[in-house]
Amino acid sequence: MGDYKFSEMFNNKLYKTPYHSAELSGLSFLITGGAGFIGSNLVEYLLKFGAGHVRVLDNLSNGYFENIKEFLSLPNFDFIEGDIRDLETCKKSLENIDFVLHQAALGSVPRSIEDPIKTNSVNIDGFLNVLEAVRSVSREIRIVYAASSSSYGDSDALPKVEGIEGRPLSPYAVTKLVNELYAEVFSKVYGLHTIGLRYFNVFGPKQNPNNPYAAVIPIFCKSFLVGERPTIFGDGKTSRDFTFIENVVQANIIALFAKDIEKHEIFNVACGDQISLNDTITLLKKVSGKDIQVNYKPNRKGDIMHSKASIEKIKKMLGYKPLYNFETGLQIVYNWYKEQAIL
Ligand code: UD1
Repeated sequence: MGDYKFSEMFNNKLYKTPYHSAELSGLSFLITGGAGFIGSNLVEYLLKFGAGHVRVLDNLSNGYFENIKEFLSLPNFDFIEGDIRDLETCKKSLENIDFVLHQAALGSVPRSIEDPIKTNSVNIDGFLNVLEAVRSVSREIRIVYAASSSSYGDSDALPKVEGIEGRPLSPYAVTKLVNELYAEVFSKVYGLHTIGLRYFNVFGPKQNPNNPYAAVIPIFCKSFLVGERPTIFGDGKTSRDFTFIENVVQANIIALFAKDIEKHEIFNVACGDQISLNDTITLLKKVSGKDIQVNYKPNRKGDIMHSKASIEKIKKMLGYKPLYNFETGLQIVYNWYKEQAIL
């Protein structure tokens, strides 16, 4: 691997320190949704630290070829353009693979409210295919999959603790909850090793702001950069445990190699902080040096009002330690968007 100029290829200044102690050079990883925001960051980490092979399975419906283009010249990387809704494609993607990082999904609560059928088919049928494909392989393949804080639903309890959930508030939340149920059942019935990571509002480089269903941080960053008033749905007191991407990559990597854990586990992945949308605007004013005013509109359907994670379980069981707080992450991502030509 020494021949490749990683300093040029991996230029976004993240992933300076490894979160694994295992030797990666003999191991092969499949990342579903690897051209998407979180998936492509995982690809970057694994290639940077010399993984034996990294394969991406992505249908480019929500991910972007741009996110992985730079890796195509590497001999230890390959890209399968295909859909997780096709079982044979999932099976083919598993050839010679040791670990699966399942990130392929259709995000966005509003999208799921507009088109519950499509969200269901990608997020549930697609995930079921991945599980079924892994079941068809005789060797053990550990699956670390993207679960979601939306599974806490209408529970008022704060912080959110694994095991204390309310009822789902959107079709998206249903799909993510069903993923957990299927993973648990495949572990119990077929002995698959599955670990669900409940992500709490992830943000960072490679997250697209130019999508009708974009998340709030990229939308707000773009508004500040182009000098347009952002819109806050609600009174701005809605809060989230915004989590910078490198913390999420850390969680995935430590979950891949965790020893002595149950066949199926669920962990929150967050910072354990509670940031309101108004706080986010205040910080963006500081980071950007711009005094931009905000429009307020009624609350969005399906929204959870407050979200803040307990991260005790993942700290205790996996040794997770978030290294980027919200402000540092926001600074990094704002500057990253500033450097991009995609706005
Ligand atoms: C939810 C999940 C998150 C998951 C994501 C997938 C929760 C608590 N979070 O995110 O874990 O990864 O779905 O899509 O369930 N907003 C504005 N202005 C905008 C856009 C959004 O005020 O222009 C508001 C929303 O109404 C919401 C908050 O910002 O209150 C966050 O929205 P968004 O970034 O879309 O994520 P969640 O729906 O919270």
